[in-house]
Amino acid sequence: MSDEPLLLTPGPLTTSKATKEAMLRDWGSRDAQFIELTATVCQKLEAIAGADQNTRSHVCVPIQGSGTFAVEATIDTLVPRDGKVLALINGAYGQRIAKICEVKGRAFVTLETAEDTPPEADLVAVRLKDDPAITHVAAVHCETTSGILNPIAEIATVVAEAGRQLIIDAMSTFGALPLSVGEIKCAAIVASANKCLEGVPGVGFAIIKQSELAASAGNASSVSLDLYDQWQYLEKTDQWRFTPPTHVLAALDQALIEHEREGGVEGRGNRYHENCQTLMHGMQELGFKSYLPDILQAPIIVTFLPPDDANFKFDKFYAKLQDRGFAIYPGKLTKVDSFRIGCIGHITRSNIENAVEAVAAAIEEIGVTLK
Ligand SMILES: Cc1ncc(COP(=O)(O)O)c(C=O)c1O
Repeated sequence: MSDEPLLLTPGPLTTSKATKEAMLRDWGSRDAQFIELTATVCQKLEAIAGADQNTRSHVCVPIQGSGTFAVEATIDTLVPRDGKVLALINGAYGQRIAKICEVKGRAFVTLETAEDTPPEADLVAVRLKDDPAITHVAAVHCETTSGILNPIAEIATVVAEAGRQLIIDAMSTFGALPLSVGEIKCAAIVASANKCLEGVPGVGFAIIKQSELAASAGNASSVSLDLYDQWQYLEKTDQWRFTPPTHVLAALDQALIEHEREGGVEGRGNRYHENCQTLMHGMQELGFKSYLPDILQAPIIVTFLPPDDANFKFDKFYAKLQDRGFAIYPGKLTKVDSFRIGCIGHITRSNIENAVEAVAAAIEEIGVTLK
């Protein structure tokens, strides 16, 4: 296992040994222990989202698949067929929300800003005032395309004031940055197991306002992505509707124990913040420039600009880092050449320090001069 590279990416990520080991058992989907495990995981996810455990103001509905499955399922379930979505876009995941609306046949409009520019809550308020047909706003918390942190609290305030519903794609922040449904009014927070929760890929979930979910019967245009139906079946039988990702759930259960042990959202967020600071300082010392100003940077993934040297080729750089035990990620910006290094997963500051040393060695080996 020690020759596996550390994954400094937006996910899947490096997980702990205990999380991997939690998968060394075959669970039957009807086993009482697996049923118990599903309930425990859902309760813990609700607690992380700040849901009131007594009133169950918001409930967790898990869904098989990657994060996009959960985003698509949430939009398809919560937005009525005659509803209309305002999608806030400043990167690929905002674009994906618009694509989901298009394919699902939901009316939608977009408010698009540049990839280094967060949406302004005031402009959202204007759009909502001007277009009474908009029923839902969909926003991305950290747009992982660049690593930018969007002002979700401000957006939530104007959406609630306008009497509309907010769907938050918190895929890359859930469990590491505070996002509590007690403070941030929203219909749903969507995330997956394999990012800041440090589980393995294969399950997503939405923490949904129960009153919205209860009113959503018949909205979905898909059988497998109908979260109302998934919720109802779980409520009635304690079981998943279709084959559950048993091993993935067992790993998530272990990952959540470790999340709690680390001090929950605050503890996890502090480690990622330290990782991010170490990465940014180290890379700056080497002469790299990050794409975003510090104030907009979420402690999740950092986009760097490539050195201004013809010898720099991402594939070569990537291979040299891989040889040294680190997997990084290509850029995803539409207009600027870039690459990304993640700060999340089961990694510490000293791993990041080693990664920066590996970057220095890789750069030298491929004959690139910085500064
Ligand atoms: C903000 C955001 N939304 C959605 C997704 C899509 O998740 P997946 O690739 O697991 O489908 C990602 C993945 O990185 C993401 O960062």
